[in-house]
Amino acid sequence: MDFTFSSSALPTSGTLVATAKADAVLSKSAQVFDKLTNGAVAKAVEAEGFTGKKGEVLEILAPAGMDAHRLVLVGVGKVEELLLTDIENMGGALYKRLSPKHPEAVAVTLDGLAVAGQSADVATAHLAAGMILRSYRFDTYKTKKDDDRKPSIGSVALHVSDIKEAEAAFLRLQAVAEGVFLTRQLVSEPPNKLYPETFADEARKLEELGVKVTVLGEKKLKELGMGALLAVGMGSERESKVAIMEWQGAKDRKEAPVALVGKGVTFDTGGISLKPAAGMEDMKFDMGGAGVVFGAMKALAGRKAKANVVGICGLVENMPAGNAQRPSDIVTSYSGKTVEVLNTDAEGRLVLADILSYVQEKHKPRAIVDLATLTGAMIIALGHDYAGIFSNSDELSEGLTQAGKTVDEKVWRLPLDDCYDSLLNSEAADMKNIGGRPAGSITAAQFLQRFIENDTPWVHIDIAGTAWAGKESATAAKGATGYGVRLLDQLVADRYES
Ligand code: BES
Ligand code: MN
Ligand code: ZN
Repeated sequence: MDFTFSSSALPTSGTLVATAKADAVLSKSAQVFDKLTNGAVAKAVEAEGFTGKKGEVLEILAPAGMDAHRLVLVGVGKVEELLLTDIENMGGALYKRLSPKHPEAVAVTLDGLAVAGQSADVATAHLAAGMILRSYRFDTYKTKKDDDRKPSIGSVALHVSDIKEAEAAFLRLQAVAEGVFLTRQLVSEPPNKLYPETFADEARKLEELGVKVTVLGEKKLKELGMGALLAVGMGSERESKVAIMEWQGAKDRKEAPVALVGKGVTFDTGGISLKPAAGMEDMKFDMGGAGVVFGAMKALAGRKAKANVVGICGLVENMPAGNAQRPSDIVTSYSGKTVEVLNTDAEGRLVLADILSYVQEKHKPRAIVDLATLTGAMIIALGHDYAGIFSNSDELSEGLTQAGKTVDEKVWRLPLDDCYDSLLNSEAADMKNIGGRPAGSITAAQFLQRFIENDTPWVHIDIAGTAWAGKESATAAKGATGYGVRLLDQLVADRYES
């Protein structure tokens, strides 16, 4: 699917797409189609009961009086209520509707429809981005080459007034979509293919975008004293890794970076505190936090963000084995703090603890965002539409909430408080790794906060419910969502770019 922006008149062949507002008020181009077809558009609107509400689609095939194969009307609803994310969703709906029919050439016009204070040219770029986002499929391991049946669109011509403006907006959105695709790919990969070593290899591929990549193996991690992270990987045949990705885009190369920190448990059996068999297969997505950090680094480097950003991910596999850690083991973290491991299934926090400490010591970040599929309790609390956030900074938390609204990746803040923190006190060590069933997502966040020094602004995002979707959305098939990439990209754009 390739996209071209043009300011000349809409073509008259292929598939032509125009809009209609609420109460089926036809746009300028839709009116032209209606004239050329001798009223076929108005007739189809009537016959179908098309109202023009947001996301509604009407298709007219082989219209008499025109060369086109197909005319498509897309409802935009009430214009004053429209958001750019609605336009992206429209693009997604359009892709879903048209791609199974393999149109060679699709031409789209928004007819100058400005959206939420942005020009129609920018809105049109968002429509294209929505089409791209919806086009992702994970088919790496399908051997039957049923290419004929694979949904596809040849080329998409977008009608705009200022080609430069539209293209600039599009290039940026396209880079972000590529980041989203990387995350979806990584999260979809099965754990026999994606394990710490192969995951780290994926980081190295970002070097071609100008990202500096460092991978630490077990020998180095032992030397450094990452006892909490290493304990999680002890029962695995796979070597644990830490991947560090640095993007230097700020004018001042010495400016303190933003740190993005990801949980990369490539498979979580629970360890000796073994999970039940039913549903265990879901734990291939327990590397989702790291997947988002990889995707965000790709997006930021791809669009040459003017910010310094360091991504760090702990890549481990949590297996039960003769040499696995045991419930009641006491481990010493990189910070020197000791942890009594009372449940080996609360492993993500052990991995994050060490890389949080490490990134603070080595990179002195101005802010830290960590992402993790950390607790099942998160799904109980917020389901699959909002991710929970936990923060020591009202400002950062507010910034993230705003960014979430902008890109429609929603977050909701939950409290941190000493009364929750004290649930982690241990008889035998500095802390234990579980706080009991109540407020399970909060006590997990409190655990992480124990490794944040000097009140560095920090936010933890628990993406247990949002990394994977059991049903499709406007801009994603079911499966790995890529949730978080656009959120982080927007946060960086809003707050940290020079
Ligand atoms: N990776 C899981 C959390 C999870 C569960 C994410 C389901 C997505 C879907 C995490 O490592 C875990 O096992 N957490 C435990 C914590 C408990 C032992 C304190 C949980 O949520 O049950
Ligand atoms: Mn677990
Ligand atoms: Zn886990």
